[in-house]
Amino acid sequence: MTTLDVAFVRAQFPAFSDPAASRWAHLENAGGSYVPSQVTKVLSDFFVAKTQPYWDFGPSITASNAMDLAKARLPATFNASADETHFGPSTTQNTYVLAHALRAGMTPGSEVIVTNQDHEANIGAWRRLSATGVTVKEWKVDPLTGMLAIEDLAELVTDRTAILAMTHASNIAATRNDVAAAAQLVHDVGGLVVVDGVSHAPHQAVDVNELGCDIYLYSAYKTFGPHVGMMYVNKHVLAEVANQGHYFNNDTLNSRLVPAGPNHAEIAACAGIMAYYDAVHAHHFAQSPADDAALVRDVFGLFAAHEQELMTPLAAFLSSRDGVHLVGSPSAAHADREPTFAFSSERITSREVYEALIEAQVSCGHGHFYAHRLIQALALDPDDGVVRLSMVHYNTAEEVARALTVLDRVL
Ligand SMILES: Cc1ncc(COP(=O)(O)O)c(C=O)c1O
Repeated sequence: MTTLDVAFVRAQFPAFSDPAASRWAHLENAGGSYVPSQVTKVLSDFFVAKTQPYWDFGPSITASNAMDLAKARLPATFNASADETHFGPSTTQNTYVLAHALRAGMTPGSEVIVTNQDHEANIGAWRRLSATGVTVKEWKVDPLTGMLAIEDLAELVTDRTAILAMTHASNIAATRNDVAAAAQLVHDVGGLVVVDGVSHAPHQAVDVNELGCDIYLYSAYKTFGPHVGMMYVNKHVLAEVANQGHYFNNDTLNSRLVPAGPNHAEIAACAGIMAYYDAVHAHHFAQSPADDAALVRDVFGLFAAHEQELMTPLAAFLSSRDGVHLVGSPSAAHADREPTFAFSSERITSREVYEALIEAQVSCGHGHFYAHRLIQALALDPDDGVVRLSMVHYNTAEEVARALTVLDRVL
């Protein structure tokens, strides 16, 4: 099988030739990834003669074409259609709007299930519905591992379940949850499943049809793009949902859940993500992909194999070190977990581990990372929380080794 040419990949990202940035082993990718030059080029081109798009004068036509290209190509990142794909301001704001829209279809006594594993982005908006007569139930993690069990969800689902909001993989526990099994349980009683895929989408091609979910969200700034919240909403849901946009846009299905004026330049720049995948594909494969969904599958196959190599030594170290608690699955298999590792130590604080890593120029963070409820469930102090190291396909074995040298010394 073709292996990822990491030198080629890194040559696409300006950060790796920037004297200030390139000193750092960037292992804080779960917070935000670097962007390739294909993305920065679209952004800077867009601002050369920035105008309101969708009129018939030159620069406006250029702007509309740039945005239309993104709208045509990004649906492949969900394996969905264009009218099911939304470009919102962020995942947090997309769930906020969704909660308002879907509330309209609920009655007193309707039930919403949230987890205590998710980033607050996919918890808070749903929980607030309790003020309007909706019953909110919590699917709880195992307090030792931070993992969710599908059997526990089965006990919470009833014929009043309207929504399950869950994460595909938590930004802390990083373990892949069985979305398809959860969707089956909830669909059997007529409910909808909303999936936060923010921590998963940088690592594997997403196929909403295979997952069987109704709504799927991710943030493009973690998938090598600009700060845009990407959202898939199944067209059957869209047809029913209460319009949150301008009344005269009611018939444009993918305007109903995006009330904000869109960020034109950043939407256009999302096409740069696909242009980056084009470049990776052309460099590694003799045959062009059949379509954009195949393009995404092929490049993510390469990314996953490389990420597997990166994560293996880190997973082995963190799961074997005495007094170190790795959150989530101890499995080092990419099929089970994302290459994101959050851990705490019995001997020293997360802050101290973090400072030692920063001293060695390893980009990372510590704390609760907005998964406040998960950190509390694990009986950790949210301010100190966990140390998190997260990799993507452009990282190298040397960068991971730099982190491991520090961890070996301090843990
Ligand atoms: C798992 C997860 N969900 C949701 C979010 C929120 O995304 P956004 O910043 O686009 O609102 C984040 C951001 O870090 C995240 O890691």
